[in-house]
Amino acid sequence: MCSLLLSRDEVPAALSLLGPHRCALHHGLAVLRIRTDQRLPAAFLSEFTVTRLLDRFYLCVRDVRRAPVLYRSFFEWIAYRYDQLIERSRNVGNITFLLRQSIRCSRVEISHILDYGCGTGLSMQALRALRWPEGLPRLTGVDTCPQMRRRARMRQLRTVSPEQLHVRRVPCFSAIVASYVLHLPTALSGVEDAWRLLIPGGVFIGNCHKGLGFAETRALLRSLGAETRRLQDRRHSLAHGHLLVAWKP
Ligand SMILES: C[S@@+](CC[C@H](N)C(=O)[O-])C[C@H]1O[C@@H](n2cnc3c(N)ncnc32)[C@H](O)[C@@H]1O
Repeated sequence: MCSLLLSRDEVPAALSLLGPHRCALHHGLAVLRIRTDQRLPAAFLSEFTVTRLLDRFYLCVRDVRRAPVLYRSFFEWIAYRYDQLIERSRNVGNITFLLRQSIRCSRVEISHILDYGCGTGLSMQALRALRWPEGLPRLTGVDTCPQMRRRARMRQLRTVSPEQLHVRRVPCFSAIVASYVLHLPTALSGVEDAWRLLIPGGVFIGNCHKGLGFAETRALLRSLGAETRRLQDRRHSLAHGHLLVAWKP
């Protein structure tokens, strides 16, 4: 079965095009279950923008301005089983790569890393498995989703909310890693705060799944004064998308 995720007030329009389906509510998100082999009618596809979120989860919106709120509800809903829904070794592999590259690219010693969009805190697993030249750096995770932060803390990752980052003033991070977040339409809301807290010479590094979000993130970071580059690593990019590196002058 697949799940179609909708805004509550768009359910009647969806049902009029899809026919009768049972609808459940999760964290303000309307969820319709359909068979995996059921084709969505052309009329539905012409009215709704359909985006695949994770395997078997599709966001369907008529008004795309609603997408960010629905994304937040989605992550809140699935946080408790996120690790089972993803291919965990793939995400840990990506985070490990980003952490390694942060050492290679940084112009300062890496002492404190921010995991931007930390999810369930898989970066803790990646960090512990790596050999660090100067001993383990500190790691802090930020995530918009409280349930994700709760899961991350269960992995002993120190977490902060975007609001807590927003009020901090003193730069303390020597690197920011962003794994599987920059492709989301909600991704950029906290980048400015994270960047402000990066020390001079520090590095921001993230993957843009399927290339999505690359141009937007690069443009934002450049507008904040960053020197940016697309990291060339063919094998990694094929698996995880474009790689963006940005240095703080
Ligand atoms: C696909 S998960 C990736 C989690 C983890 N980095 C990984 O690689 O497994 C994306 C995460 O980014 C979070 N997120 C989305 N927009 C965000 C933003 N603007 N600031 C912080 N976290 C955000 C979501 O709540 C979600 O937990």
